[in-house]
Formats: sequence, structure tokens, C-alpha cells
Amino acid sequence: MCGIIGYLGNRNAYPILIDGLKKLEYRGYDSSGIAVFCNNGYKICKTKGKVSELEKKIFYQKKNMIGTSGIGHTRWATHGVPDNINAHPHVSNSHKLIIIHNGIIENFHAIKIILLKNGFHFKSETDTEVLVNLIEYIQTEHQCSLEEAVRISLNEVIGAYSIAIVERSNPNTMIVAKLGSPIALGIGSNEKEFFIASDPIPFLNYTKNVIYLKDGEMAIIKKNEKLDLRSIVNNHKISPVIEQLQINLKEIEKGHYKYFMLKEIYEQPKTILDTLRGRLLNQNGGIICIDGIELNKKIFTYAKHITIIACGTSWHASLIGEYLLEKLTRIPVEVEYASEFIYRDPIIEKRDIVIVISQSGETADTLSALKLAKQRGSFVFGICNVVGSSIARNVDDGVYTHAGPEIGVASTKSFTAQITILVLLALTIGKYRSTIDKHLYHNLCEELGNITEKVFCTLKIDRYLKEISKKYCNVKNFLYLGRGINFPVALEGALKLKEISYIHAEGYPAAEMKHGPIALIDEKMPVVIIATKNIHYEKIIGNIQEIKARKGRIIAIINEEDLQIQMLADHIIKVPKTSEEISPLINIIPLQLLAYQIACIRGKNVDQPRNLAKSVTVE
Ligand code: AGP
Ligand code: GLU
Repeated sequence: MCGIIGYLGNRNAYPILIDGLKKLEYRGYDSSGIAVFCNNGYKICKTKGKVSELEKKIFYQKKNMIGTSGIGHTRWATHGVPDNINAHPHVSNSHKLIIIHNGIIENFHAIKIILLKNGFHFKSETDTEVLVNLIEYIQTEHQCSLEEAVRISLNEVIGAYSIAIVERSNPNTMIVAKLGSPIALGIGSNEKEFFIASDPIPFLNYTKNVIYLKDGEMAIIKKNEKLDLRSIVNNHKISPVIEQLQINLKEIEKGHYKYFMLKEIYEQPKTILDTLRGRLLNQNGGIICIDGIELNKKIFTYAKHITIIACGTSWHASLIGEYLLEKLTRIPVEVEYASEFIYRDPIIEKRDIVIVISQSGETADTLSALKLAKQRGSFVFGICNVVGSSIARNVDDGVYTHAGPEIGVASTKSFTAQITILVLLALTIGKYRSTIDKHLYHNLCEELGNITEKVFCTLKIDRYLKEISKKYCNVKNFLYLGRGINFPVALEGALKLKEISYIHAEGYPAAEMKHGPIALIDEKMPVVIIATKNIHYEKIIGNIQEIKARKGRIIAIINEEDLQIQMLADHIIKVPKTSEEISPLINIIPLQLLAYQIACIRGKNVDQPRNLAKSVTVE
């Protein structure tokens, strides 16, 4: 986790670094720091808390951060509490080397013992300080250049990293290396000005030319010289591949919204449309054309088993995928948490398909699961949002969701984009295998074609939700219930509330409630229940009666024309009617808004909830 940034060129580095750190804060924000280099040394400033704290500290301490190269870091602590000392950059014992690091050095303890025996001392508790001192130790022992010392050291290291390191005496050279954690190099004017960052957004203002460093690669960056790319293992030269970024700056601005999360919730009619664009052609009752699926028609048609792997919100989308794929393709599907999958020697056969789902495409657990599935010989298909991300580059084939950059830590628009792809995937495979009824296929295509209109209408309940939120913003617990395809929607609604408002919430299959959680229900417990019309409708009414009998407060998501539940519930949230298969695209909207409104009333920082980070790039 964490965001790293660096600059080497002819401009003043500080504004680029501080601005870049603000854009990377979604990756971690417990502490931050910057070092700027000039000919006679370096200036460093670190602090606990957000980047705005760092900016203030630099301003009040009148730190004159002038120089044309520098590095910065916004941390999500893995080793050592978030404080001024553990914040990055870290400096080696003799003050010669300055480093920033994203990842974990797993064998840091063993290395630290050797270094201690050799007279090194440590100020912080971090694994990073161990790494920078190992590099210093190797450089002194081998009497070699910094790049050679970095290369030798990294070959001794076990774990994951993206690092940038500078030698105080040579501020015009920066060494950048990657294994496991992401890093993008922005190539500025005449290919002689360089930006480095955990993702390309911080340098989008300056250049659209980017090189995504691959695992095991190391870049030697020198001011006014061409980039030198090498393999960490054997020092072989590698030809860099420069890609053109397609991101539009407007997509990463908040506009008139208070928080990115709200903007992203409101963007959903557009992002669902973007995900469908060019893929769902509604002539002749619906044609779906997605290259990543069509090219693998045989594999999908004859698959015996599908495993879907993901984390968090993407895992909830996977559960919806399980429901859709099993129903429409009759292929057995299993959904796995990536972090569990990798440690339990999973059974994967040759003709199995593994689908990995990830917004960021950088989630370390999902990436490891993908690699394991490939080792076992299965076909790995990816559903990712971030173009060119590690997961997208490692899968056998896949599709992008096209939801655009998602900045709010709590996923919203990427969830609905993932569901949209899963519906298209299930419909396509169902058609290949002739397991889907023609009428159902045509109906679902038609409904998908009109879904954005309905999502747009659903967003209008926001004002009414504010009223409900005021009533329940101080409760300690929430229960979310749903059945069938809407059970994962209940899980996702509960996750949203937990993440941003810090109220405990549990998602449960509505019928399972009577096997335990019903004991929690009393007059203080709000129960959000997804009760839109579907095959479970009568049963859901039964569940509502059970809650009512125990004086629970019912907030029911219902269809517009439903009078029956209106009589039973304390609050009703009306949403447009859709087929059950695509109802999660509608039903999640009020739950996202409810969590958002409650968190706002409670005065929480919605975009940057405590302890979380957008991309979890550590296992
Ligand atoms: C969602 O609101 C979370 N912040 C988190 O659970 C997230 O969905 C999870 O970390 C997976 O991320 P990914 O989709 O980028 O792989
Ligand atoms: N392991 C390092 C630390 O704890 C880096 C963590 C990160 O990636 O933010 O400081």
C-alpha cells in the first residue's frame, strides 16, 4: 500500500511532489514525507497524518524546498506505527542514501540482525530503513555504484517493493525498481525529464507518455539523459515500451461534489453506459460482442467449472456473478476470497476457468491468486477497471469495465460496472451453450439497454435518504438483509456503511436471520431489507413480519407499485422495477447513498476512511 512519487528534470520538484502526493493519498494517508535534492545536499520533512499536515509543516517551518529532483511518500503503515519517525523517506546511517518504498521486505529481520552486527543502528521500526542500510552496506563493501548496490541488495531481498532511491552526492540520478508493487514512469519533454508514481495520475498534467515497470525491472534515471532499463536479476538491458495514457483530467476532478464518492455514485448511469458501449448492440433482440469473450468461445463453451476470485466489493460482485453464471450457463461456479484461495492448495483442473475481478488491478492477494491459478494450468480471465494494471497485464485474457478512475476509497461505480460485465458474460456463455431461454436472453438485453435511465431515476431518492439518515446516524448496529442475487447486495450495503461511517453493520441472507442474528433485533436495530419483487417476494414479507414482531426498525427497498410492504415498513425506499438478474444494479444505489449520507452527518472523511487505502498492495 502507500503512494510514492518522484521527479527528476529541470522544474522545481516540490510543487509536483506535494500535488502528486495529494492525488496518491487514496493509497494510504497515515503519514507522509518529502525529500528535495540540490547540489549541496537535501531537505527532508516528514509528519504523521495527511499530506495537508505535511504541507503546513513545510510552510510553517519555512523549509526551503528548492531543487529539481525529489521524492515523496504517503504511507499506509505495515511495520511500525504511523508517526514522524516511521514516515518515509528513510535515510541511511551515513546520510548518503535516501529512499521511499511501497511494499514489505519479508526477510527484514534477518537482514537487520546482520546489519546490527556490522555497526548499523536504526531509528524507525520499518522494514524500509533496513533496506536502505543494506544498500549502503553493500555499496561500501563492494565499492560500487549506487545502481550496482541496489541490484545486489534487491537480489537478497524477499518480499514486494517499488522503490526510488537517491544518493545525496548525486541528486541528478535516481534508481527505481519494482517487484510486486506498482510503479509508473512518466517520460517528459524530449524523453529527458522523468516522473515516477504509484499510478500515472499525478503526472498527467505534464505528460501522457508512460512506462509501466514490470516485476524484476530497474530503471536508472539520469537528468537530461535517456532512460536505462535493466533486469534486477542479471543486469541485462531491456528496451522500454512507452504507452500513451488515455485518461482525461476531468475524470479525476471532484467538480461541484463534496466528495469523490458522491461524484462516483452519481456517475453510475454514465459508467454503466460506458461499460455497455460497443458491447451490447440492441438490434435483432440483442447482440453482445466482447472480443475477450469471443476469442475464447471454445474455452467458455466447454468449461467444466468456474472459480471467481476477488476481495472486498469485487468479491461481492463475484457472488452476483456466481448467481448469474450458474443460472444462465449451468456451469458450476465457486467464489473465493483471494487471500484464502492462495493458502489452501486449491483443486483446479485443466479445463477450469478462473475469473479474477479487481477495480484497481493491483490488489496483492488477487494478483497472487491469479499467479497460482496460472501455475496450475487454468485459463485466467480478468475483469479490471484500471487499464494496464498488474492484474490486467497478467491474465490470459479479459475485459475492462470502463468505469473511469475511482478515487473514493469506498468502491461504488466499479461495483455496478463489474456487475454489468458479469451479466454480459453470463448471457454470452449461456448463448454459446444454449442454456438460456431465447426470450429471457432478449428481455435481459433489452432491459440492460434501458438500465441507465432507471439508475438515473433511482438517484433522485437521495434527498429522502438524508431524512432517514438523520434518524439513524447515531445507532451502533445495522442489519442488511437480502435473498438470492440480492444477498450480495446486502453484504455490499453493510460494507459501505462500515467503511465510511464506522457503524457496525452485518449483511445476511434474509432467511438465515432466524438462525442467529434475530437475537440482536430490538426497537433500536434498523434493518435494511431488499424487498423488490422477485421469486422471493412472499418469503421476504415473512421475514419482515418476523422483524416487526421483535420491534425492529424496517427500512425496505421496494418497487414503486408495492403497497403491501408500504404498510409494514417504517421507511420505504422506492426503486424502479427490473428483472431479478439485473436488479442489483438498481438496488445498490440507495444503499450507497444511505452510507454516504450517514457518514456525512457523522462528520467523517468519506473519501479517506481511517485505516483503509484504495489499493491493498500488500498481502
Ligand atoms: C471497497 O469499498 C473496498 N475499499 C475494498 O473492499 C476493495 O473492494 C477491495 O480492496 C478490492 O479492491 P480491488 O477491486 O481494487 O481489487
Ligand atoms: N513497509 C513499509 C512501511 O511500513 C512501506 C509500507 C507501505 O507500502 O506503505 O513503512
